Amino acid sequence: MAQPPPDVEEDDCLPAYRHLFCPDLLRLSSEQYLFQLPVSCLRDKVAFITGGGSGIGFRIAEIFMRHGCHTVIASRSLLRVSTAAEKLAAATGRRCLPLCMDVRAPPAVMAAVDQALQEFGKIDILINGAAGNFLCPASTLSFNAFKTVLDIDTVGTFNVSRVLYEKFFRDHGGVIVNITATLQIRGQALQVHAGSAKAAVDAMTRHLAVEWGPQNIRVNSLAPGPISGTEGMRRLGGPQASLSKKVLESPLQRLGNKTEIAHSVLYLASPLASYVTGTVLVVDGGAWLTFPNDMSKLAGFESPAKL
Ligand code: HXC
Ligand code: NAP
Repeated sequence: MAQPPPDVEEDDCLPAYRHLFCPDLLRLSSEQYLFQLPVSCLRDKVAFITGGGSGIGFRIAEIFMRHGCHTVIASRSLLRVSTAAEKLAAATGRRCLPLCMDVRAPPAVMAAVDQALQEFGKIDILINGAAGNFLCPASTLSFNAFKTVLDIDTVGTFNVSRVLYEKFFRDHGGVIVNITATLQIRGQALQVHAGSAKAAVDAMTRHLAVEWGPQNIRVNSLAPGPISGTEGMRRLGGPQASLSKKVLESPLQRLGNKTEIAHSVLYLASPLASYVTGTVLVVDGGAWLTFPNDMSKLAGFESPAKL
């Protein structure tokens, strides 16, 4: 069975990285090219990654940059993305532009995309990774709390996709990968807000794949399972999550790591996936098939009721 690639818990670059995909297709001579699979082809592509300053988004940015991409990482906190961009550029030698942008605000998204296009002259790949989440039962979730998560995850994904379509993808083609989840498949307890938001994004993936396919735009979702070293896992699983019985009972009997998610996103964004669109790639070690739904947690859950 394949071993997971090494990873680190913090929002730091990997101390060492062994390429599994070819790091740089252009280093091959034309003769070599004929006999070798063009596995990566990402050199000098530009990837725009929302939520790229932390967790899974940070690692996606790093792995893309280690395969020759330049990146734009965008989120609400300029400090967070600026700090991340410095680390990413230092570790990979590629360019990373940090931008302050709330995905819920179309004018801010338009300004950020303009700035990215001014800097790089193009954007080839969009990764919609920005999201918000917390545990809360539906019965005490405030109207605004539900709306807030849908605004960030679902409306935010539409806003950024729509702006990039209009400003670049419509005329040049492109690739979109939406980071979703598996919560919605079985209706995970305490997650009606995030599950509803991610289900809508998976639907959006299919709609956009249909409407924008003729413009040579591929649109896919990637649904991670429980991933170590992330804010999502800290909020949902707690610090002892990796030791919990629940995780051991999943088919691969462990949490996933950020590099494993980044590798799968790399596949979807690369020419290896040139005929893949409108799909949801679940990357969870089979966890959704066996994870128990948290009925006991639901019964004991205390949360502020704010209506
Ligand atoms: C209940 C809560 C709450 C909580 C906030 N709210 N936290 N309700 N339980 N723990 C309510 C507030 O009371 C408010 O409602 C409304 O939500 C909006 O809160 P704000 O703080 O004003 O919103 P905002 O500043 O926009 O922040 C958004 C946020 C925040 C989602 C609430 O936590 C955030 O910024 N998160 C980003 C980081 C994050 O969540 N990362 C994890 C992604 S993981 P009222 O009614 O009072 O106005 C992920 C994992 C998926 O998505 C699957 C994992 C397996
Ligand atoms: P994370 O580090 O908290 O990532 C979320 C990112 O979104 C942060 O960088 C945050 O930065 C940004 N963000 C939040 N609200 C925003 C807004 N309104 N506008 C712009 N950016 C915003 O959490 P993560 O666990 O790595 O999650 C990354 C993605 O994976 C999410 O889509 C999540 O749903 C998905 N996922 C995670 C897991 C898991 O196990 N961790 C499982 C399934 C799916 P700012 O605060 O600076 O804005």
